[in-house]
Amino acid sequence: MRYLHVPRPWYRPVGLLGALAAVLVAGCSGPYPQSTLEPRGDFAAMVDSVFMTTVYLAAVVFVLVEGALLFVLFKFRGKPSDADPKQIHGSTVVEIIWTIIPAVVLAVVAVPTVRTIFATAAVPATSPDGQPPLKVEVVGHQWFWEFRYPDLGITTANELHVPIHRTVDLRMKSADVIHAFWVPQFAGKRDVFPNRETRLWFTAAVTGEFPGACAEFCGTEHARMDFYLMVDSAAAFTAWVDRRHADSTMMYTGAPKHAADSVPLASMDPKVARGKQLFTTKTCVVCHSLSAMNPFKDQIGPNLSGIGTRKMIGAGWLPNTDENLREWIEHTQKVKPDVLMKGLPPISDDEAAALIAYLRTMR
Ligand code: CUA
Repeated sequence: MRYLHVPRPWYRPVGLLGALAAVLVAGCSGPYPQSTLEPRGDFAAMVDSVFMTTVYLAAVVFVLVEGALLFVLFKFRGKPSDADPKQIHGSTVVEIIWTIIPAVVLAVVAVPTVRTIFATAAVPATSPDGQPPLKVEVVGHQWFWEFRYPDLGITTANELHVPIHRTVDLRMKSADVIHAFWVPQFAGKRDVFPNRETRLWFTAAVTGEFPGACAEFCGTEHARMDFYLMVDSAAAFTAWVDRRHADSTMMYTGAPKHAADSVPLASMDPKVARGKQLFTTKTCVVCHSLSAMNPFKDQIGPNLSGIGTRKMIGAGWLPNTDENLREWIEHTQKVKPDVLMKGLPPISDDEAAALIAYLRTMR
C-alpha cells in the first residue's frame, strides 16, 4: 500500500494556538467579582498595593537577571576556534554581590509588608463617614453564615449588609468546625475557629453586591457555603435595619410587628395564611426564625428575616426564584445532599406554593 504524503496546512497549528490564546484571554474578560486584584475597600487595597509593589520589583529583577543571562550566553558563546577557557573555582566577590543584592531587595519589600501587616491588624477607631465602626459577629456553621449586629439587635444569615464608607469590625467564630470567611474584593480570607475569636475589618468604598465564600474545607457541603456582601448606601442601610427591626416578634413576645403577622389569619390572603400555618406544622419554625430580632442564640438553621427579598437561597447557592425555592423546600437533599434540613414531613407542590407565598411577604 502506498501512503500519500499530504502536507499539513500551516493554518492548523496557528489556528490551534489562536484558539488556546483566545481561551486564556477570555479569563481576562471580566467582571471579576471573586478577584483580589480588583479591591473595593481600604483593607483589600492595602494588601493589593503590597502585592503589586512586589510584582513590579520582581519584574525588574526578572528582566535584569534574564537579560544578563542572555547577554552572557550570546557574548561568550563557544566558537570552534576557542581554546579551553581558564579554569577557576568560586569567586568571593561575586558571591558577596549576589548575597547583598537580594538582601537589599527583600529589605525594600519588607517595608510596605510590615507596615501593611500592622495597619490591617488594628481596627481603625473611626470610619471615613465619621461613625464608629459597625460591629458584626460572624458565626460559621456547617453550612451557612450567621451575621449578628450586637449594637442593632439584629441577626441574619448569608447576606451581610453594610453601609458604604463605614468600617466594619468583624468578630468571628465557628459553631462547629474550622471555616474561613472570605470576600475577595474587601479583605483577606481569615479562618474562624470554634473556641477562639478572630478579627477582620474593612471599609467598603463602593455600593453593590459582592460574592463571598467559605475558604476552608469544612465538610461535604463546603463548596455550597457562600454568602453575599451587600454594600448599601447610608439611606438604604438604615431602611434595611428598620425593616429588620419591624420583623415579626410575635412568635416570641406576642407583639405582632410584621405586616403579614399583624393581619389576622382570617383576613389574610388565603394562600399566605396557609403558608403561615404550614411554616409551623411542617416544623420549619423549629430551626428557623423569620425575625431578625431573634432572642435565641445558636439556632440550628439560618435566620430567615427578609427571606422574601434575599438574592440567594441555600447559603448563596441558588438564585432566590420561586422555582428554586420550591425545589429547595420539596427536595432539599437533591440540591444540597448533606444539609441538616432533613427528615421533614413531605411537602406537596401546593403546600410549597403556599409556603413560598408566605415567605415572599418577608421583606
Ligand atoms: Cu465552611 Cu468551608
